Amino acid sequence: MNRQGEILVLFYSRYGATEKMAQHIARGIEEVNGMQARIRTVPPVSTVCEATEDSIPSEGAPYASLDDLRDCVGLALGSPTRFGNMAAPMKYFIDSTSSLWLGAELAGKPAAVFTSTSSMHGGQETTLLSMMLPLLHHGMLITGIPYSETDLLHTDAGGTPYGASHLAGTDSKKPLTEAEQRLCRALGKRLATTAVKLAS
Ligand SMILES: Cc1cc2nc3c(=O)[nH]c(=O)nc-3n(C[C@H](O)[C@H](O)[C@H](O)COP(=O)(O)O)c2cc1C
Repeated sequence: MNRQGEILVLFYSRYGATEKMAQHIARGIEEVNGMQARIRTVPPVSTVCEATEDSIPSEGAPYASLDDLRDCVGLALGSPTRFGNMAAPMKYFIDSTSSLWLGAELAGKPAAVFTSTSSMHGGQETTLLSMMLPLLHHGMLITGIPYSETDLLHTDAGGTPYGASHLAGTDSKKPLTEAEQRLCRALGKRLATTAVKLAS
């Protein structure tokens, strides 16, 4: 049963940059009448196979469940880059979604992606594309950012037509620029608007 008007903002973040992006995307979602953001994260994965995380993190967003995915009317998926790809904890979570794929439970829902990198040419686009692949297998409808968002033309940090991005710097501590924030909000708003149109 879809939770009417609820977009899942699902992210992994180690140093906080992708989490900040998630908050701006959520703001954009909630600018659309009747739409709400449900912010969720995924636990880190450990090289120690026996290790298990508490089911509720000590701080920050709760961990996502498969029901969160099943019940949302749209998805914003975010991960920091790891060697030009999404981070393992996000991939690990996505690899647990076979039951949703078998039932085509996500097919036809709109989705958008966002990422953070340390270096300017360190793989923003490739990471965004890597996150799109499993979403396309699920039959989701990918939305990006159009160049009518003129920040895309002038940004000297993050911001791509494939999704929102952020240049976090070598220490991963650079705050989001004003343009990066606007593009996050624009992506959230576009995703929510698309979900409304698809529902009507
Ligand atoms: C194992 C590993 C691989 C990484 N690979 C890249 C990379 O390919 N390109 C890049 O620009 N940054 C890379 N980084 C830096 C992270 O992307 C950066 O710390 C992240 O964007 C910060 O986001 P967060 O605050 O949400 O964790 C890597 C970091 C780690 C730990």
